[in-house]
Amino acid sequence: MPELKLKHIPLTPRIGSQLDIGRDELLSGDYAADIRKILVERGVVVIRDAHVDDDQLRHIAATLGEVRLGQSKRGADGVTLNEGEGGVLKVSLDPEINPQYARFLLGNHLWHMDGPYEAIPPFATLFTPYRMANVGGDTLFASTYAAYEDLPEEEKDFLAPLRAVHTMPASLFPSMRNVTPEEFAVWHSYPQAVRPLVWHHKSGRKSLVLGSAAAWIEGMHPAESHDLLQRLTLHATQDKYVYRHKWQAGDLAIWDNTGALHRVMPYDLASKREYHRCTLNGEEPITAVGRDHAVN
Ligand code: SIN
Repeated sequence: MPELKLKHIPLTPRIGSQLDIGRDELLSGDYAADIRKILVERGVVVIRDAHVDDDQLRHIAATLGEVRLGQSKRGADGVTLNEGEGGVLKVSLDPEINPQYARFLLGNHLWHMDGPYEAIPPFATLFTPYRMANVGGDTLFASTYAAYEDLPEEEKDFLAPLRAVHTMPASLFPSMRNVTPEEFAVWHSYPQAVRPLVWHHKSGRKSLVLGSAAAWIEGMHPAESHDLLQRLTLHATQDKYVYRHKWQAGDLAIWDNTGALHRVMPYDLASKREYHRCTLNGEEPITAVGRDHAVN
């Protein structure tokens, strides 16, 4: 990594760094360029004792990129963005806190990336606890850059032309029980998106594009497609590519949604766990290996 003003301490060899920075320095924006570099290199960054409120969360987010604002109806690509009031979403499974989306958020228990349905998926998310779970509720992050980089060359060649179809039912069905036909029909009404299995980023780096929404590989026999997606997901979420964050009050975590999967571990719903999230708009489409970035 180039020379940086900001110090960071790796949390695992392949993913995650803790930043040596206080809230005022975060708010100043003076270290934003360094934070972005470390974020993309390390997949997730953690700041302990940040203790940011919603305005500060939004402000820090705006130093790092373009804050994504919610829409109540579907956008041009058929995707409904739900980013809460003024760009801060309350992430909670409690329907009293999150009446519209609590059930959708059950899908957060499975390994996923945010927004694979969108033409340009979100770049990053800032996440801070408002009310933590008493037991459980750790958040896990897996580096899809590191997982790709370690694949044998012949496997990289095999994966390069493949594309996965991402669907809402695939991402939600395994995470819940007692799904009603009406609910299933709503998920089914969401558009499917076909995305390259390997993302050739503008930076030149490559990552795997996986997650619970990846339902099947285009043009492949269903059984082979199922086995391949399972195998790649198991590969990408091995301990050596994963950072498990155990939350403390005042933490701020930021993850690079374009190079990492994430998930929350189960927790006691009675705890009313609630986190506040601010998401940054994406900056590049998922471009296949060998495709021109300008054309995609
Ligand atoms: C998410 O999956 O977006 C949130 C993860 C968490 O609740 O820890």
